[in-house]
Amino acid sequence: MKRLVDAGRDILQWADELAVFSEPVFAEKGQLTVTYLTDAHIQCAKYLSELMAEAGFDEVTRDALGNVIGVYHGDGRLAKRLMTGSHYDTVRNGGKYDGRLGIFIPIAVVRELSRAKKRLPYPIELVCFAEEEGQRYRATFLASGALVGRFDPTWLEQRDSDNVSMSEAMQRAGLPGRLEAITTLQRSGADYLGFVEVHIEQGPVLADANLPLGVVTSINAGMRGICTINGTAAHAGTTPMTMRQDALLAAAEISLMAEARALKDLGSVATVGQMQVPSGSINVIPGRCIFSIDMRAPSDSQRDALVTDVLTQATAIAARRGVTFECRESMRASAAPSNPIWQGYWERAVEKIGQPVFRLNSGAGHDAMMLHHIMPQAMLFVRGGNRGISHNPLEIISSEDAGLCAEAFIAMLEEVASAHAKA
Ligand code: GLV
Ligand code: MN
Ligand code: MN
Repeated sequence: MKRLVDAGRDILQWADELAVFSEPVFAEKGQLTVTYLTDAHIQCAKYLSELMAEAGFDEVTRDALGNVIGVYHGDGRLAKRLMTGSHYDTVRNGGKYDGRLGIFIPIAVVRELSRAKKRLPYPIELVCFAEEEGQRYRATFLASGALVGRFDPTWLEQRDSDNVSMSEAMQRAGLPGRLEAITTLQRSGADYLGFVEVHIEQGPVLADANLPLGVVTSINAGMRGICTINGTAAHAGTTPMTMRQDALLAAAEISLMAEARALKDLGSVATVGQMQVPSGSINVIPGRCIFSIDMRAPSDSQRDALVTDVLTQATAIAARRGVTFECRESMRASAAPSNPIWQGYWERAVEKIGQPVFRLNSGAGHDAMMLHHIMPQAMLFVRGGNRGISHNPLEIISSEDAGLCAEAFIAMLEEVASAHAKA
């Protein structure tokens, strides 16, 4: 097995180069933020297209959603493609490997294949997904969702915080911004062998086990919603404590209740990541509070029980406090257990490069959850440094681990090739 130490170093350099593009307000503070179809996002797409063309992809295109797609042809024996990829958007003040590592590893691998003039029996399609994080619009997984027929047409009319609709944002970015152009992106599972995604682990498990790579067994189910509490804005000095309908305090109590409910389960999590008092003032009791909620669990049934309990108790808390509570669901994604055959390809690949096979499940959501609806999928995680911190600028990986991951990727491609040669 050829060692890919240089590839590991290049992957880290590409991540640094791509991280130069960030939205102005964040860039000024030295922070990385790339949300859907902003100028920084468009610059990232251009960088990735050029990198893929240089690496030896035979076709590089940008689709109606802003996904950048590279195809490395096979030798003609198999028409079905292997799809791989991950996202290039980021959370606000995020890290430079979340999503992007799953783009750079296949680019490094195709560069190796192309340099060696090697063709696999099947084509490789790398999709750099334009959106996964659900930051600018409440439309999480919109890019991978479109590929599996899950693009919600109402999203096109959704407006961002600057009142720009998604279709306007698309047109400004040179994309059609029309549903007809998006529906044609839907893939048929029959055209693919399967989907693989590499991702930084985003947690401390591999670092703790002192292992570079982990094979994913399943991705947790998730739900996201935007909650609104309406109380009564009133004078902070004159309204007695017993006569208030404080929307923020109701939201605070609901957040603590969600924490306590999630703690009762093994593996459930609940997070209130955003909370606002629109037009709030220092001397006004909050009349309205808007907050996000994100709940996840290892299975759909555990997630559903968590969501039902939290929403029921939230309604009861609101009633007791004399305020109203409403939750608008913006995402519900099913748990995605890895396909056992494809998980096996990763396991044998990891073994082949001399690393122990370590299995773990994914608490984070990934584009693989969407592709899961139409084809077999399995993921490989790479150890994060700094105790695995992610969604944080402290997110890091080592070039040695990136190199090992590229080696495992090539070994996985060979496993897939030999399984289909036998078939
Ligand atoms: C994606 O990063 C997620 O929120 O899991
Ligand atoms: Mn993320
Ligand atoms: Mn990610």
